[in-house]
Amino acid sequence: MTQVKPTSGAGRIVLDGDSVEFGAGESILEVATRHARDVPTLCYDPRLDAFGGCRLCVVEVEGVRNPVASCARAAEDGMVVHSSTATLEKYRKTLVEMVCSENRQVDVDPLSGLASQELAALADRYDARTGRFAGAQSGCSYEDDDNPFILRDYDQCISCYRCVRVCAEQEGDFAISIKNRGFGTQITVEFDGLLNASACTFCGQCVQTCPTGALADRKALRYADTPGEIEKTRTICTYCGVGCSVDVLTKGDRMVGVQPAMDGPANQGALCVKGQFAYDFVQHEDRLKTPLLRGEDGELHPASWEDALERAADGFLKALEEHGRHSVYAVASGRAPHEAAYTTQKFIRAGFWNNHVDNCSRA
Ligand code: SF4
Ligand code: SF4
Ligand code: FES
Repeated sequence: MTQVKPTSGAGRIVLDGDSVEFGAGESILEVATRHARDVPTLCYDPRLDAFGGCRLCVVEVEGVRNPVASCARAAEDGMVVHSSTATLEKYRKTLVEMVCSENRQVDVDPLSGLASQELAALADRYDARTGRFAGAQSGCSYEDDDNPFILRDYDQCISCYRCVRVCAEQEGDFAISIKNRGFGTQITVEFDGLLNASACTFCGQCVQTCPTGALADRKALRYADTPGEIEKTRTICTYCGVGCSVDVLTKGDRMVGVQPAMDGPANQGALCVKGQFAYDFVQHEDRLKTPLLRGEDGELHPASWEDALERAADGFLKALEEHGRHSVYAVASGRAPHEAAYTTQKFIRAGFWNNHVDNCSRA
């Protein structure tokens, strides 16, 4: 598929009868979306280069004989564009019917991934579960790929290649690629093996951009049968100092998954394997809920914060007396607020007269 990069300068187009501005390099789709036109898409991810594969975003441009893919066509000064006509809607409905007829399962659990409901939403919008083009089906599930994070059910794949492109363009990993053509098309890794044995870092970005659930969040799907609505709470990942924005998914009191925030200023939809998948500690039964102090029996026993802090202070003083001021070193959490980081360095510098302070993002 030829990738077309918008290159024109700023100007104005006539969009559905309205004269609207566009910025340098904007595609027709970007202009239309900015002006509240609901142009359907499937292979489009605003973070990625235009691909032009699914053709759902077609619009009519006066003077151009065939509808054009608006995601891959630059807006040009003076263009007259129609984003929704009876002909376009018929064309779009036929395309969605073709995809739905070919896919084994259109409706997937929303825990599958952030974009996993896109195809189902389009099927609803165009009333496209008609089976009109029933027949040959593509895909081949990798049921034996038993990695703990990503379900690879390519029976649901529509060959939009968002996964391949996000892996290359966003993650810079190039872990997955495409083999074969037509109904034999398959997303795969080197030597057609398993993700565990590939260059995949399990960042989960392919899962979150997949519009069909072909790539799905295996960990979150553990809770597919847990009763309750999925609620999303915006927060910041607790791991490193980058501070990626995430939406924590819950059902009742149970944390069931994490999805990256596309509008997160630090990550723009990207996460690493820890932020994406390593959240079981939050409600793990082994998680400490109170300080523990080692008793004379050598075992750890629950204690009050007052007693625990007193024991810690005794330990610091003992180290200072027995080994001198260079014996104490602080490693602050990269996720600590400024006030805690300031207090940490003050504690070491003023309390122990040394500069041995670092943070976990570097250590
Ligand atoms: S999890 Fe990340 S690295 Fe692995 S295939 Fe998906 S996008 Fe690429
Ligand atoms: S696995 Fe998902 S994202 Fe990848 S090509 Fe198939 S449908 Fe698109
Ligand atoms: S969204 Fe434009 S061609 Fe797929």
